[in-house]
Amino acid sequence: MPETWWRGAAIYQVYPRSFADGNGDGIGDLAGLRSRLPYLADLGVNAVWLTPWYPSPMADGGYDVADYRDIEPTFGTLEEAEKFIAEAHELGIKVIIDVVPNHSSDRSAWFQEALAAGPGSAARQRFWFRDEPGDWKSIFGGPAWTQVPDGQWYLHLFAPEQPDFNWTNPEVHQEFHDVLRFWFDRGVDGIRIDSAAVLVKDFDGGDPDGYTDQPEVHDVYRGWRRLAEEYDDRIFIGEVWFPDQERFARYLRPDEMHTAFNFDFLACPWDAAALRHSIQETMATHIPLGAPPTWVLSNHDVARVVTRYGREDTSWDHGARRDGVPSDLELGYRRSRAAALLAMALPGGVYIYQGEELGLPEVDDIPGDLRQDPMWPRSGYTIPGRDGCRVPLPWSGGEPPFGFGTGEPWLPQPEAWNKLTAEAQAQDLGSMLTLYKTALAIRRDRLGDGTLTWLGSAPEVLAFTRESGLTCLVNLGSEPVRLPPHETVLLASGPLEGEELPTDTAVWLA
Ligand code: NOJ
Ligand code: CA
Repeated sequence: MPETWWRGAAIYQVYPRSFADGNGDGIGDLAGLRSRLPYLADLGVNAVWLTPWYPSPMADGGYDVADYRDIEPTFGTLEEAEKFIAEAHELGIKVIIDVVPNHSSDRSAWFQEALAAGPGSAARQRFWFRDEPGDWKSIFGGPAWTQVPDGQWYLHLFAPEQPDFNWTNPEVHQEFHDVLRFWFDRGVDGIRIDSAAVLVKDFDGGDPDGYTDQPEVHDVYRGWRRLAEEYDDRIFIGEVWFPDQERFARYLRPDEMHTAFNFDFLACPWDAAALRHSIQETMATHIPLGAPPTWVLSNHDVARVVTRYGREDTSWDHGARRDGVPSDLELGYRRSRAAALLAMALPGGVYIYQGEELGLPEVDDIPGDLRQDPMWPRSGYTIPGRDGCRVPLPWSGGEPPFGFGTGEPWLPQPEAWNKLTAEAQAQDLGSMLTLYKTALAIRRDRLGDGTLTWLGSAPEVLAFTRESGLTCLVNLGSEPVRLPPHETVLLASGPLEGEELPTDTAVWLA
């Protein structure tokens, strides 16, 4: 692949606990992932991004990292991780891992040392310890300060098991430089930066949001970029959630991150005007910076797209998750097929969260006592949270565990997933899996990095062409629309009606 592989890459997100279980304990692992690498190569993705694979008590699904230089034992070993990187590379698949710089696990050596060393110690300066708690709230609900036995309080923007680092301490900067080198030296091609905008805190301004987008956070990423430039072709992808495109864009300046997730597109309702606006804004933000946009429909924090697009309100809002809100899954399925063709046709990179290619719906009926997301207890058991999009994948067979492994999966799989296994869909030309595979194959030659030209169309239709001559049309209106002149239909998300594109359907023409 060329030096700029990442500019137009299709990146598959692996949530390791739920991808494939190699040793029968019901938890996904590296052995399972390695055994399924041929599936990913066959699917046709250019890269995988793995959510955290480090030793972790799993208070927040691995985003509570106890050791940034090792592998979670239930997932495997460092040696296996190295083998995985090598095997992925042999198949032409780049490897992106997740680094969590805002907070560690409370079980990390540094935090344990800080607890033992006591108030005023240098070890406590690596975190935010105070004699009095502040009034910030945790993003997962409840207060953001927790008291330790000697009376001091420490800050955690997320769960209490996730103490925040003090990024005014040079030791913290040094530590993360070492961690980045550790993984770049092992061949990792890219790093997804967790909660990238909240590292630096302003306690004094009285702002309840005084941790978001403080100016000094950019110095952190400038330092990281300089480090990455010492290696060949390594990239950063920022998890940066902002409604404000101008602030978002600052993270993509040429001496900062290479790309960032486009959550504006993810949060958009299934509505032509809203999507067109989001796409136009995205292009306008990225083009002057020379940074490729990314197109994201879902991830491990968000309700599955099939379910979302079947609801009355199809937008997404982290603050109002709408867990359990009824959905017309047939409608959502049809729309998510069209959305997949839209996302894959747009200029830049595209992210595919595991299971999207199988059209999995959100699992809304996980019993409360099996739920693992800290949002559930921290919301006083009012917000079920993110487990419903993290259910282990169905690979094959007619009943759970559907070839995920041999043991009982860590979250229960719905019986109805017998129709959605990768095995069942591989045989079916009309399946979501076949749609993704075909689209990704076409995308390799004709789409990815570049720009688009809008075509004149009815307001409820999105229509644009790409440099290769491929035209993408998506009909979000209630009536079928006539196809523009073309030579061939390369791919459609659903059956066409003669020369007409039905509602909630997308087509690629040449
Ligand atoms: C964003 C991650 O995607 C999410 O899963 C996690 O809970 C928070 N950051 C905290 O690390
Ligand atoms: Ca396992």
